Order: sequence, then structure tokens, then C-alpha cells
Amino acid sequence: MAAITDKFGRPLQDLRISITDRCNFRCTYCMPKEIFGKDYAFLPKDHLLNNYEIVRLARAFVELGVNKIRLTGGEPLLRRDLPQLIESLNAINGLEDIALTTNASMLPNKAEAIKAAGLKRINVSLDALDNEIFQAVNDNGVSSDRVLKGIEKALEVGLEVKINMVVKKGMNESEIIPMAKYFKEKGITLRFIEFMDVGTTNGWDFSKVVSKKEIMQLLAEHFEMEPVNPMYLGEVAKRYRYVGTNTEVGFITSVSESFCSSCTRARIAADGRLYTCLFASSGFDLRKLLRSDANDEEIKETIASIWNKREDRYSDERTEISAKNKKKIEMSYIGG
Ligand code: GTP
Ligand code: 5AD
Ligand code: SF4
Ligand code: SF4
Repeated sequence: MAAITDKFGRPLQDLRISITDRCNFRCTYCMPKEIFGKDYAFLPKDHLLNNYEIVRLARAFVELGVNKIRLTGGEPLLRRDLPQLIESLNAINGLEDIALTTNASMLPNKAEAIKAAGLKRINVSLDALDNEIFQAVNDNGVSSDRVLKGIEKALEVGLEVKINMVVKKGMNESEIIPMAKYFKEKGITLRFIEFMDVGTTNGWDFSKVVSKKEIMQLLAEHFEMEPVNPMYLGEVAKRYRYVGTNTEVGFITSVSESFCSSCTRARIAADGRLYTCLFASSGFDLRKLLRSDANDEEIKETIASIWNKREDRYSDERTEISAKNKKKIEMSYIGG
């Protein structure tokens, strides 16, 4: 089948799959405790896609043009059958890149198994080195040391690692320079993420966004940086290099410089719903289709027809009003 495109000519190239809506952190900007407390109704197990279903979908998407799959959550390492999933995804012909986004807290025990299963690279979320600040962010008592140990273990077993730091005003701006220095020293790419209005429970407000421009100004006081050309159409981060090194730093600028025009990403949430934008209000129930007697061709046709109709460009059109009032799904469920 020829590559499929949406209404704006954007091809379907990347697939992000959230494999659980649960997490062992309660980051205040993602799963605030007041909402995601003891009584929160997470998805029951039989509402999650099982590995067989995930692989069947992944194969269909690859046949439709996807060459990159990212596993997310919640915290994907909470799924005990993750190594088996990676191994099966790895066997799909035409899939060039499989990656994982994790909070790293469980990597000391799990890095070896995921690497052995064939995973090559991970992105680790870490918003502060300072332990007091980090514990206030994850709101679950996890120390920054534990995450750093997870990162060390991942490097030790040979995984490529990048770091994601969500920057939010009043939360962790003071950590921008310490994080930059630390990861520059280690030769690890750090990406600064503008705080986004994902979901409806994270208290987003424009005044809490620290923009790429502000972060760049701060960095320029300490480092000399030069831009790096994108590696492919639709690359999310704007990349720079510290002059005289091979170490990169990136910016994910959904708020100040949207990147919808080259957005090639589809998302499958933890319960198997297909979303064509991170900020979508509703999705298509692929789980139901998988559990019906539909064959692979029918599944592919359904996905293709959804993609053909896609018109999403939320970040291009974001206003304070849409950010506050639009019905949106939660980050931990859709997977970022
Ligand atoms: P690489 O393949 O390593 O470049 O990873 P990635 O940046 O695509 O994925 P990751 O899970 O590390 O996401 C980093 C940040 O980018 C998260 O905050 C995501 O929510 C955000 N992000 C990824 N794709 C999109 C997108 O299509 N739209 C918006 N608005 N944000 C996105
Ligand atoms: N804005 C920006 N990034 C966010 N993430 C989670 N919630 C938000 C938000 N509201 C990040 C996580 C992780 C990635 C998948 O998304 O920290 O690195
Ligand atoms: Fe968990 Fe990541 Fe959300 Fe933090 S940002 S609560 S680590 S899913
Ligand atoms: Fe893609 Fe939606 Fe993000 Fe725009 S806002 S880049 S369309 S996921």
C-alpha cells in the first residue's frame, strides 16, 4: 500500500503506544495527587491491549507506512510483559526504530531485560537534580538519585539515553543550568520541554510556561551553542550543539513554536483508542475492532480512512481559551 496522508498531506510515520495508564510517580503537572489519588479508577486489566493485540496493530501501522514506534505510559516499565512486547515488535519487518519513554525509577532492575529484548534507546523524564525540587515534582518521594542510578544502569547495558525536562515557572527554572551542566559533562542530550496544556487536570496556565527563548537566553550566559539540522521530517525537538563538542541540547516548543505542519504521529492510548492528536477530544476504539471478527485488511482500511480525514493542528491554533476550555484527554492515558 502507498504511504497514506492526511488532509494536509502529512504522512503517517510515527506511532506512540501507551501501554499502561498507571505510574509510580504523581508529577504535579501530569498526574496531580488530588485527582489521581487512592480512589482514582485506572483502567481494569482487560481494558488494556494485551501484547498480542499491540503487535497486531503495530504490524498494521507499519504496513501503512509507520517506521518508528515509541512505547509510553503512564510508566511503561510497570508492565511486566514489556520485554516480550519489545521482542515481538523487533521482529516486525520495516520497523526501523523502537523507543521507550520512562521515568527511569525501575531501570536499575529492568534495563538489562529490555536491552536484551532488543531495545536500543530510551528517553528519560527528569525535571531536577536537586532532590528537594525533584521530590516536590514527582510528589511520591522518589529521589533524583534513584533516577540517576536508573540512567547509569541504562548506559551500562548499552542503551542510548536522552533526557526530557519539563520546565514550568515556579517549579524548576532554577534547575535549568545545573541540569545543562550535568548532562553536557556526561555527553547526554538534554531536551527542555515547554509546559503544555495537555488534559484538563494539570492547572496549565500560559503564565507558567517557560519558553524556548527564555531558556536559550539563560543558557547563552553559560554556553555557546549552534543549531543542528533536523534528521527527518517531523522531528519534534529543535536541536543545538554545544560548540566544540558532540553533545546536543534540544527544545520541544509546542507552545511558543508549534510544529503541527510536519506532525506525522498517531497515538494509541492504553485502552486501544486511536487519537490523531495529543490534544484530541475523542478517539476511535481499535480494541473493539481487534476483538471483533475484523481481519487485518479491515483494520488497516479503518486506520487509513481515519488518517485520511485527519485535520488536527491544535498547537498551531491554541488560544488561552481553547487551552482552558477544550475537552482534552489526560497525558498519562494517551502517553504524551
Ligand atoms: P525522539 O524520537 O527521541 O525525538 O522522541 P520524542 O521527543 O518524539 O518523544 P518523547 O516521548 O521523549 O516526548 C518528548 C515530549 O514531546 C513530550 O512532552 C511529548 O508530549 C512531546 N511531544 C511528542 N510528540 C508531540 C506532538 O506531536 N505534539 C506535541 N504537542 N507534543 C509532542
Ligand atoms: N507538558 C509537557 N510535557 C509533559 N510531560 C508530561 N506532562 C507534560 C506537560 N503537561 C512529559 C513527561 C515526559 C513526556 C512523555 O511528556 O515529562 O517526559
Ligand atoms: Fe508518570 Fe511521566 Fe506523568 Fe510523571 S510525567 S506522572 S513520570 S507519566
Ligand atoms: Fe501533532 Fe497535535 Fe502535537 Fe500538532 S498538537 S504537533 S497535530 S499532536
